[in-house]
Amino acid sequence: MRTLYIGLISGTSMDGVDAALVDCSGAEPRLAGTHKGEYSEELAARLRTAARSKGRCALAEAAALDAEVAAAFAETALALLDAAGCDPAEVEAIGSHGQTLWHAPDARLPHTVQIGSPARVAALTGMITVGEFRSADMALGGQGAPLAPVFHKWLFGHPQETRAVVNIGGIANLSVLAADGDVAGYDTGPGNTLLDAWARTCRGESYDRDGQWARSGKVNAELLTRLLSDEYFSAPAPKSTGPEHFNLHWLERAGISDKAPEDVQATLAELTAVGIADAVDLSCAGAALAVCGGGASNSFLMERLAARCSGPRPVTTAEWGVHPDWVEAAGFALLARARLLGEPGNDPAVTGASTAIPLGGVFLPS
Ligand SMILES: Nc1ncnc2c1ncn2[C@@H]1O[C@H](COP(=O)(O)OP(=O)(O)O)[C@@H](O)[C@H]1O
Ligand SMILES: [Mg+2]
Repeated sequence: MRTLYIGLISGTSMDGVDAALVDCSGAEPRLAGTHKGEYSEELAARLRTAARSKGRCALAEAAALDAEVAAAFAETALALLDAAGCDPAEVEAIGSHGQTLWHAPDARLPHTVQIGSPARVAALTGMITVGEFRSADMALGGQGAPLAPVFHKWLFGHPQETRAVVNIGGIANLSVLAADGDVAGYDTGPGNTLLDAWARTCRGESYDRDGQWARSGKVNAELLTRLLSDEYFSAPAPKSTGPEHFNLHWLERAGISDKAPEDVQATLAELTAVGIADAVDLSCAGAALAVCGGGASNSFLMERLAARCSGPRPVTTAEWGVHPDWVEAAGFALLARARLLGEPGNDPAVTGASTAIPLGGVFLPS
């Protein structure tokens, strides 16, 4: 009998639900199946509206979305098992990150909102579901983010070399995995979120496929400098951010009305690349670097990152054994496992929490 866990996440890009089936029977976790669940057009539009509301989304709508996202997550988990030909009885638990709608790590009492009720996911799937991964870390004074460095260590840590992993989702986050097992990491700034928002605004497209539109533009050096002068980039870690900060209002405030839209897009791609490359130089210059998340599929962005990195040419995590699209989902499967085993899932050096603890609440199906 195998020991399987399912990880579910939809990141700030809101591009759908990533599901990974992880086999933890052997010495190393192994990806045993993957599936991408789609939000309906209507649900995706409502989620974008809620996320763009600067926290002013009506409570009734947020609660309704909580239930609807849970249904989409549960459906995705069941479709994953179906696709993998797996018996639900083999699954120990689901780790469900949910959908972030709000993240305020620097508030007087830091808080964050992930919707997609884990109780409902448990009820709809019949599987133990671990959810609410960020709140305990925040209650202990942490940022509740990024959680990835710990599971990046579990997946990619190497006993002889310091490695860096960058997840380019809506926001980009860096993990530094030292050979001695120490981890560090933080959100570097925008990943795809501004690129997506600008492509949607100017072209009605949900993203700039392979960065083709960005490639057609010219980087505006003055605009890039202004964007990089945002104090987030120079703030010390621990730090985390989201579209609450890096959004179209933020971009418009930098003065873009007189710029060609494709030049703005080229500048935004450069912003992501420079933000990451500078963070790598600051925190682990010269380390081997692998990229995961949707940004790894953006060939233009990967080219710009390679051009900006002073160290070895970045690869994708596929070269380190896990396809870039499934790293984060696999990570939440592993965090659910840690929760059930009573092992810590956060690292105080990363989040700033006062102590390391198992993350998440455990919800039983009945
Ligand atoms: N072929 C591609 N070309 C350009 N961008 C891509 C491509 N594939 C995915 N992306 C980007 O990746 C994003 C999704 O990345 P993901 O890692 O799922 O982010 P999140 O964790 O925020 O959901 C999309 O919104 C898009 O911006
Ligand atoms: Mg996604």
